[in-house]
Amino acid sequence: MRRLPPVLLEDGCSRELLSLIRTILAACKEISFRVSQGALSGVLGSTLDENIQGETQKKLDVLSNQLIKDILLESGYVKAIASEEEDYTVAGDPDAQYIVAFDPLDGSSNIDINSLVGTIFSIMEAPKDADPSDPSIFMQAGKKQVAAGYVLYGPSTMLALTTGKGTRLYTLDKTHGSFLLTQEKLIIPADTNEFAINASNQRHWLPPMQQYIEDCLAGTEGPRNKNFNMRWIACMVGDVHRLLTRGGLFSYPEDTKNPAKPYKLRLLYEANPMSMLVEQAGGLSYAGTERIMDIEPSEIHQRVAVTMGSKNEVETCLSYHK
Ligand code: AHG
Ligand code: MN
Ligand code: MN
Repeated sequence: MRRLPPVLLEDGCSRELLSLIRTILAACKEISFRVSQGALSGVLGSTLDENIQGETQKKLDVLSNQLIKDILLESGYVKAIASEEEDYTVAGDPDAQYIVAFDPLDGSSNIDINSLVGTIFSIMEAPKDADPSDPSIFMQAGKKQVAAGYVLYGPSTMLALTTGKGTRLYTLDKTHGSFLLTQEKLIIPADTNEFAINASNQRHWLPPMQQYIEDCLAGTEGPRNKNFNMRWIACMVGDVHRLLTRGGLFSYPEDTKNPAKPYKLRLLYEANPMSMLVEQAGGLSYAGTERIMDIEPSEIHQRVAVTMGSKNEVETCLSYHK
């Protein structure tokens, strides 16, 4: 059998950045093992706690967060970390070059049904001479990311990674514990007839999104003049993985269900890293009519509307909002 090149084929990126990515992946391999053990590793079910965003924490949210946090802070590669499951940023090594924002376990509602979950990470340069305990070091637009990726814990464990020169896919070879390159250059097809959205929120969406989905659902009898298919995994990593591999449009749009919370997905841990992976594969990623990676964050747990995926379909969706 042909021998595949080992991780990480990320040309032109610094030794320190590669070491940092490998550090994150070491924690992800441990999470992959625990996920695959399921009930045997005692990771199913909820804790009695909520995170600062008012969401009940699952045992696996807490465990995954601890694994990534500990390994990053011990590594000396990070000046600070920000996690979906941490109330505040956590200071690391004052001399380190990078900061990392991460969603330790994405798709938490899938844990107990043995369905897809993932880990998402975003790496940025730490401003020089900045105080590692100052959360404002994370207030950088997504276009400043130097690397972004996710690990999908599915039937196989896969890594999607970009360091700014395309998006590549790696598969965890569990026989010797390495992520091996399995797709060198991902290109999202520009056209698609598949969308992913939580349709149970339909009556709460704003009129442009209502109209866009209504026209998709009308199929060949409507203005789009083609039939659409719908998928929803309830794990952004799983849904974005599908659109990276075969195209599609993924959206978690603004809604009016709870006026205090018009958006669901988080800018730093979910929207920004996924936007970089999608754009590096030729796709587009928007919040309403604004490119997500241009948004200047104002706080670490900030949420945004998200529509990303196949270029022509995202543009069509955008045209309803203009
Ligand atoms: P998390 O598990 O990290 O809180 O993220 C869940 C997110 C995302 O993965 C998914 O696309 C979406 O929330 C699912 O939302 P619904 O529960 O509305 O389906
Ligand atoms: Mn998430
Ligand atoms: Mn999460």
